[in-house]
Amino acid sequence: MKKLENKVVFITGGNSGIGRACAFESAREGAKVVIADLASADHQGTINEIKLLGTECFFVAIDVAKVESVKNAINTTVAEFGRLDVALNNAGIGGPYSEIHDMDEQEWDKIIQINLTGQFYCIKYELQQFLKQGGGVIVNMSSLAGLKAEHGLVPYTAAKHGVLGITKNIAVQYGSQNIRGNAICPYYIDTPLLKSVSEDIRHAWEAATPIKRLGQPEEVAKAFIYLACDDSSYCNGTQLILDGGLMC
Ligand SMILES: NC(=O)c1ccc[n+]([C@@H]2O[C@H](COP(=O)([O-])OP(=O)(O)OC[C@H]3O[C@@H](n4cnc5c(N)ncnc54)[C@H](O)[C@@H]3O)[C@@H](O)[C@H]2O)c1
Repeated sequence: MKKLENKVVFITGGNSGIGRACAFESAREGAKVVIADLASADHQGTINEIKLLGTECFFVAIDVAKVESVKNAINTTVAEFGRLDVALNNAGIGGPYSEIHDMDEQEWDKIIQINLTGQFYCIKYELQQFLKQGGGVIVNMSSLAGLKAEHGLVPYTAAKHGVLGITKNIAVQYGSQNIRGNAICPYYIDTPLLKSVSEDIRHAWEAATPIKRLGQPEEVAKAFIYLACDDSSYCNGTQLILDGGLMC
């Protein structure tokens, strides 16, 4: 028996990096997959490849920073597939590096709007659907920067800490209603998000972990499947760290 047989899995930022890997792993585990990403994203290749795995899959445009767009994406998911079982709130952007006293206010607002407020918008409307159905699972993408300062990455660090806060609230406020909420906290994962990083910085990040390498999106996807399926039925409000041992 596959772990997500016939479950409807909705993934924001599902067309790249970690979200894309989670979409493929969900399909392999029997799920129907919704790739929710920016309208500009060239998504047809992802959709075709997932369908080749023998499951249903469609793309819905979403900008998580805009509440109407989030409502529309979740309504479209339910209209197409009849329900929503698992939501991975993963869409996010990186940067900018700055000292706090020099931080540009507009840059602060942008990161918080996408990486934290965007997660809240998604969670709000996913929960409304779960309450109608009688249950569901939420997995939020935080970061190691949700647990410790990432030097200079100020609004990103603040947003990812906030993601853990709302995840804990999901756990305590909805646990009795068959709804679980958990978060994943990865260290640096080799995705397009890191494309502008120099080789020197990359090597420094690799050297910092006991495992001596960056993580792969597929390794995050395995953790996502665990949190999404019934294997983690008593796991609620946790923050699953994927860092090769760095926090030790
Ligand atoms: N790669 C890492 O090292 C790392 C480490 C820890 C946490 N994360 C987190 O994992 C998540 C995915 O990152 P990734 O590395 O796969 O990055 P990525 O850039 O490969 O993918 C991010 C996806 O989010 C989408 N996106 C961006 N803004 C959006 C918006 N406003 N609305 C909807 N979609 C939007 C992009 O189009 C893209 O498909 C992010 O939340 C990121 O903060 C990444």
